Amino acid sequence: MHEFMKPIKSSPTSSTSIINSMASQHYHELLLSTLLFLFISLSTQSHETLVFPVRKDPTTLQYITGIYQRTPLVPVKLLVDIGSGFMWVNCDNHYISSSYRPAQCNSKECALAESMTCNTCNGSPGPNCNNNTCGLFPENSIINLSTTGDVIDDVVLFRSIHGNFATVPHFLFSCGGNNLMEGLASGVDGAVGFGRTKIGIPTQLSSVFNIHPQFALCLSSSPSSNGFVFVGNGGNYKLAPGIDVSSSLMRTPLIINPVSTGGVSFEGETSSEYFIGVSSIKIDGKAVKINTTLLEIDDEGVGGTKISTVTPFTSVETSIYKSVTRVFIKAAEAKKMKSVAPVKPFKACFSSESIKSTRVGPDVPIIDLVFGSEDVYWRVFGANSMVEVKEKGVVCLGLVDGGLSPRTSIVIGGHQLENNFLEFDLATSVLRFSSSLLFRQTTCANFYFGAKP
Ligand SMILES: *[C@@H]1O[C@H](CO)[C@@H](O)[C@H](O)[C@H]1NC(C)=O
Ligand SMILES: *[C@@H]1O[C@H](CO)[C@@H](O)[C@H](O)[C@H]1NC(C)=O
Ligand SMILES: *[C@@H]1O[C@H](CO)[C@@H](O)[C@H](O)[C@H]1NC(C)=O
Repeated sequence: MHEFMKPIKSSPTSSTSIINSMASQHYHELLLSTLLFLFISLSTQSHETLVFPVRKDPTTLQYITGIYQRTPLVPVKLLVDIGSGFMWVNCDNHYISSSYRPAQCNSKECALAESMTCNTCNGSPGPNCNNNTCGLFPENSIINLSTTGDVIDDVVLFRSIHGNFATVPHFLFSCGGNNLMEGLASGVDGAVGFGRTKIGIPTQLSSVFNIHPQFALCLSSSPSSNGFVFVGNGGNYKLAPGIDVSSSLMRTPLIINPVSTGGVSFEGETSSEYFIGVSSIKIDGKAVKINTTLLEIDDEGVGGTKISTVTPFTSVETSIYKSVTRVFIKAAEAKKMKSVAPVKPFKACFSSESIKSTRVGPDVPIIDLVFGSEDVYWRVFGANSMVEVKEKGVVCLGLVDGGLSPRTSIVIGGHQLENNFLEFDLATSVLRFSSSLLFRQTTCANFYFGAKP
């Protein structure tokens, strides 16, 4: 075996105990607020679009969704981790189901999961304690902890964009344990990965429902209204008031990082995360001087730009951070914005009183992430670039210093993604993106459901 395994961080001793009924209650609030609750199983069809309502947890700034699974069905709240390769749930927390099946080593399920291990277990048999069952390494990407876990399948219910439910009788996922729950928002019992693997949500659902392998991400900035992930054909997303968001999207290739960025990986394994080719950064039209080598992914998989829903604020390598901050402050002074003492973890902060507000947030210098040719860029307005520290009357540039040699030079985080519509097409390996929907006088909380296309 040519297994090349990076070390697994040792498991923490403490574990968060989760009261199941509390989890269910929150979960119901999350789901029932916007969706019709018709309980209809859909037959396989080729124009299905599935939807994951996503709510921001105000305490942890994590993006949380929910599914129903098992027999009998129970609601499970999960962290949205778009780059992660598979779904995992806590199988130690009252996982009771008459329908789960461990994936036997060397089976086609294990091949699909691209598992490289075969697990045995001497404890009492259960969803995460089986013999001759293949394994994966579920990762809690909030605390960067990975453990081993069995691959199993079970009934999972997904919501359709039409308000129905769609049942997958044998959905493949992995098991985590209580030791993998630290740092996750209250009531959360696992994570759901939309990454680029065969058992990642887009590809697994695409083969079950015969739909296009793509998903769209639209995160709400408000903890009291849902954003969404859509999986499937799309092309017909309507936002109030009558805006077809799928039109007029910019596009840039999705790049495959040849080296896995996961907590545990094997030699030759590519990354399941979504990288894009930022070639320069402009602030109010002026290019920021950066070492362009950092924007490329090298042979070891280091460098480049990725999109992450588990990083609350965009994190950039130190030299890029310094340049961007310097140029931004200069452009801000030209706009008569008044600098004030920094509020951690941010560096460039300004008095709110010195900044006008606009439809797209505070009127601050515009940041463009430029891709390849100059005419493709992701424009970042104040609503996404700035973070309000209300009690101090301050707004700060919402960038954090990612250190001197981070694995990925630019990690575009949640705050910068909010109220932007992003469509990840795995078949063509293209990202289509809208920039701020506020510019079009709508938000990610304004999706209109219920109508057949
Ligand atoms: C796995 O096999 C061993 C050896 O036969 C046995 O002692 C153990 O109980 C089995 N574990 C499970 C979960 O069945
Ligand atoms: C996890 O890893 C990421 C990327 O290397 C890093 O930015 C982050 O600070 C780490 N988090 C913790 C809790 O160690
Ligand atoms: C640019 O970054 C690369 C990768 O970190 C580094 O090897 C190189 O020395 C840097 N170049 C300059 C001019 O700082």
